[in-house]
Amino acid sequence: MKKSVITLFTLLLLFILAGCQAAAEKSGAMELKLAHNQTLDHPVHISLVEFGRLVEEKSNGDIKIRIYPNAQLGSEREVTELTQTGAVDLAKVSASALEAFESDYSIFSLPYVFEDYDMFEKVMNNENVTDKLYNQTEGMGFIGLTYYNAGERHLYTKNREVNDIPDMKGLKVRVQPSQTSVQMIEALGGIPTAMAYGEVYTAIQSGVIDAAENNETALVGNNHGEVAKYYMYTGHQIVPDMFIMNANRFNQLSEEHQEIIKEAAKESTVFHEDVWAKTVQEQTETAKNEMGVNFIDVDKSPFIEAVQPLHENYSNNENTAEIYQLIQEAKKDE
Ligand code: GCU
Repeated sequence: MKKSVITLFTLLLLFILAGCQAAAEKSGAMELKLAHNQTLDHPVHISLVEFGRLVEEKSNGDIKIRIYPNAQLGSEREVTELTQTGAVDLAKVSASALEAFESDYSIFSLPYVFEDYDMFEKVMNNENVTDKLYNQTEGMGFIGLTYYNAGERHLYTKNREVNDIPDMKGLKVRVQPSQTSVQMIEALGGIPTAMAYGEVYTAIQSGVIDAAENNETALVGNNHGEVAKYYMYTGHQIVPDMFIMNANRFNQLSEEHQEIIKEAAKESTVFHEDVWAKTVQEQTETAKNEMGVNFIDVDKSPFIEAVQPLHENYSNNENTAEIYQLIQEAKKDE
């Protein structure tokens, strides 16, 4: 029942969107619809607003970007599907959500695949990696334009500290709808529950889950710090947010407009870095001082060791071996 109400609501919204687009096109400007699941003060939203500003400026007002935040158009899985069909033109979704569409993306949820953030950035700016990643989903209806830093993911619980692997036993942890993330929690000894981001707050509050894992903005921006009081610096994943576009829509643009979209996307990724760093710093303080969240340093080595079998699987699996290898090579590049 709930699902059909949501679907009806989404259909209605899409109908209204089509009307907005017709109005924009009448006035001479092309309007592209962009969907994401973050709040208006989240760094990603701010960077996407900047993307829109850049596109409009560079195209002298020929292209306008209309943003639908807060998962208004659905979960990340749903907006990826809408981007495939072209009902939505652009979407920002986690690489973990794209794993269900293209197995290469699963590598980005592989725990501790990046030693640190510098290594992550090096890989995400390596064209051998991004060319493969961004272009190969064209046949599925979408391409990648750029990525946004979504920080390191850490474990947080409702009411208990986790310092070592034995503490993970029986812990019900929400993960993104990603097979790799499910396997990660299993390897660590916990019980994974995959669910969409929008459901996590209530699930922690009601005790359906004991824990979740995310970057620091989840605590304040999404209020999870109200219901989860222990945040352990496990740094188990560095998963990029991906910015994708409907492939037909992109291919139908003039070469000049294609260039503008690509350039604006890249520039907004650079812009995002400062907004991200500042927000994480501020929100960590807020979570600590105003929400009473305890931030705890943990020794990562037992966690790293526990997930080694996953690395063996993913580096040998025929669907992921090539991208795994490309990432290892990109890390070594000068
Ligand atoms: C991050 C990411 C989102 C994702 C969320 C999640 O916040 O930026 O795109 O939806 O994690 O855990 O689902």
